[in-house]
Amino acid sequence: MAKYIVTGSAGFIGFHLCLRLLKEGHRVIGIDNMTSYYDVRMKEKRNELLLSYPSFQFEQIDFGNFDSLFQLINASKPKVIIHLGAQAGVRYSLENPWAYEQSNNLGTLNIFEAAKRSGVQNVLFASSSSVYGANTKTPFSEEDPVTQPISLYAATKRANELLAYTYHHLYGMQTAGFRFFTVYGIYGRPDMALFKFAKNMLLGKEITVYNNGDMKRDFTFVDDIVDGLVRAISAIEKGKIKYEIYNLGGDSPVKLLDFIAELEKTLNCKAKMKFLPLQMGDVQETVADVSKARAQLGFDPKTRIPEGIKIFSEWFLENKDWLLELDDPKQ
Ligand SMILES: NC(=O)c1ccc[n+]([C@@H]2O[C@H](COP(=O)([O-])OP(=O)(O)OC[C@H]3O[C@@H](n4cnc5c(N)ncnc54)[C@H](O)[C@@H]3O)[C@@H](O)[C@H]2O)c1
Repeated sequence: MAKYIVTGSAGFIGFHLCLRLLKEGHRVIGIDNMTSYYDVRMKEKRNELLLSYPSFQFEQIDFGNFDSLFQLINASKPKVIIHLGAQAGVRYSLENPWAYEQSNNLGTLNIFEAAKRSGVQNVLFASSSSVYGANTKTPFSEEDPVTQPISLYAATKRANELLAYTYHHLYGMQTAGFRFFTVYGIYGRPDMALFKFAKNMLLGKEITVYNNGDMKRDFTFVDDIVDGLVRAISAIEKGKIKYEIYNLGGDSPVKLLDFIAELEKTLNCKAKMKFLPLQMGDVQETVADVSKARAQLGFDPKTRIPEGIKIFSEWFLENKDWLLELDDPKQ
């Protein structure tokens, strides 16, 4: 049984990772400040499920605040910190750039500095496929230049990767960043397209489809992401990771309109689509080259879109009483 700290534990991916680690018998300390960027009731629901495990400890801490974060990390000395907490969302970063500066830039600096001062050598962290900006060469590879982020969110994620390198270089910290590609699944984020589509379709409302539906995404099922993270935890514990960046994507990109068709089928409900142009900061196509994660971590995303959407839709229909009640997100 190992002890881990997971930040963003009440968030979508953090919650799923905590659940997996707890089921494997580990001790997990979850950190989250429960921001109201999207309806907090979703975060409370996830947190309640985690708290049903006696080996889970929840700390409501803002990692933008160094002192409380340092106290916790120094007192608990986890084997690995998995830093998934962040101000997420591309579009909201146009409206509130300060939230991104505070949580993503200052927050990530605090995580690395607190880890260093506590003698914790292993830090894994979430980056994002958005660091590829408007790159047109696909699939996106970790070798590609990532010098032109087209949203503030992407700029903070790229800055996190550079900061991690510096901590590795200066203090020998072992660290890896993960460029996640559009993650979906149960207990998913109410601000993301899949959730908004399902909710509006069941309420008989219009769904907004950007770039007239001409978008392609490498949607990745959350269990596959968690599997990749668990493999990375094992690798870093064995000293096999020094400083690395990995793409974690579903490896089967689909057109947005095909994704919607799958949702219509599994929810048994027709979508009323309103087409709009591409939004500022958004990219038309994200396709991951996951060969590095495959070769080095044994990452193997297995869940194809029809299966993943079916699991999501069944969960949504079973839980629709409270899901349809959730407030619409800020963007
Ligand atoms: N979901 C995706 O498709 C996706 C894609 C690329 C990258 N990512 C990245 O993966 C990570 C997890 O994303 P997610 O989808 O679970 O998002 P999420 O918003 O559901 O989870 C993030 C959690 O971090 C918490 N948080 C934010 N600021 C904090 C702070 N200052 N102190 C403590 N907690 C704070 C939030 O309350 C939230 O619960 C994020 O870093 C995100 O940027 C996600």
